[in-house]
Amino acid sequence: MTDDDIQKRKLETERKFLLRTPSEEIGPMYPIHKPENRGRDLAVTKAGKRIAGQPLYIRGKVMDLTGQIISGAEVELWHADPHGRYPHPSDLNPARLDPDFTGHGVYVTGVDGRFAFRSTKPAAYPTSTPGWWRPPHLHFQVTTQWDRLVTQMYFPGEELNDKDELLARHRRLKQADRVEAKTMPLDAGMEPSALHLVFDIVLPTPHSISAFKAR
Ligand SMILES: [Fe+2]
Repeated sequence: MTDDDIQKRKLETERKFLLRTPSEEIGPMYPIHKPENRGRDLAVTKAGKRIAGQPLYIRGKVMDLTGQIISGAEVELWHADPHGRYPHPSDLNPARLDPDFTGHGVYVTGVDGRFAFRSTKPAAYPTSTPGWWRPPHLHFQVTTQWDRLVTQMYFPGEELNDKDELLARHRRLKQADRVEAKTMPLDAGMEPSALHLVFDIVLPTPHSISAFKAR
């Protein structure tokens, strides 16, 4: 096989298969005491009070390497509040914690493989390494009957993205585009100040692995 043939086959494979969403450490702020499941809406308290901050709508599809949707995937979301605080006892950030914010939601995909959450945009926060601030981001854990993925999603256009150590690794591996959400136009009913993002998640299934091996 010539170099041209190898390159052609590589391009064909890339066209036919989706690249899996890069994984990330679960991090220290995964909820130790999970709040009562608030489902897809992290933007309001149980009593119906709106959490302060920029409204955030995030949606996406869970798919396998062949682009086939995955139903029954549990999509778990957790993130910091609009002050950069997690409702976690080990959070060292001295910023004020919004006492109403639970920062955790769960959505199980249906036959269309889609998930959707409403929340409030998290702020950046300092790490224990002097000078390193994490840019605003969302943590996801996706569990299917075959696999589990833990990752982080980043907001497009954030200045701190260029200085983040975790994103730097994704850039080095040329996979940063797969952990950055895309901004969408607002839908009817969304607040004018809202942010509407889409973030599709790709992880393997036995079917897609077999297809990949047989390519
Ligand atoms: Fe975080």
